[in-house]
Amino acid sequence: MLSRKLNQVFLNIISNAIYAIKKQHANGEGGVLSITTEHQGDFIYVKIGDNGTGMDENTRKRLFEPFFTTKDVGEGTGLGLSISYNTISKHNGTITVNSEPNVGTEFIIKLPLEHNIVNQPSQ
Ligand SMILES: Nc1ncnc2c1ncn2[C@@H]1O[C@H](COP(=O)(O)OP(=O)(O)OP(=O)(O)O)[C@@H](O)[C@H]1O
Ligand SMILES: [Mg+2]
Repeated sequence: MLSRKLNQVFLNIISNAIYAIKKQHANGEGGVLSITTEHQGDFIYVKIGDNGTGMDENTRKRLFEPFFTTKDVGEGTGLGLSISYNTISKHNGTITVNSEPNVGTEFIIKLPLEHNIVNQPSQ
């Protein structure tokens, strides 16, 4: 079962994506948010993509830093992705990002399946 903390990770990444889409597309028209999951060996991959603002190089380098935000004052704490990074690390996973300014962004989250925990018979 996914921990509540991992749900928060997905929520934060999805709300970042929606924010970037709304900024790039007037009224969100033409915005696309895609979420795919894949299972490969002992890992699952969750990919969350958007065709929003994308990021410049400076933002891409710093986005996991605590309190780093490009949102207006009062709009974001800049903690979403640093907390997400820590949560994923605690689950022995990784998070990577591909992004291009004015084109979009894709986050790839890789998590171990942890068979022996997930598949224990319930009694
Ligand atoms: N999908 C995305 N498209 C473009 N920029 C993004 C995207 N996701 C994150 N970013 C950039 O990374 C920064 C940090 O994201 P993070 O979630 O840590 O904080 P935040 O969203 O600004 O604030 P909070 O999550 O506290 O509301 C954002 O301010 C934004 O510049
Ligand atoms: Mg955020």
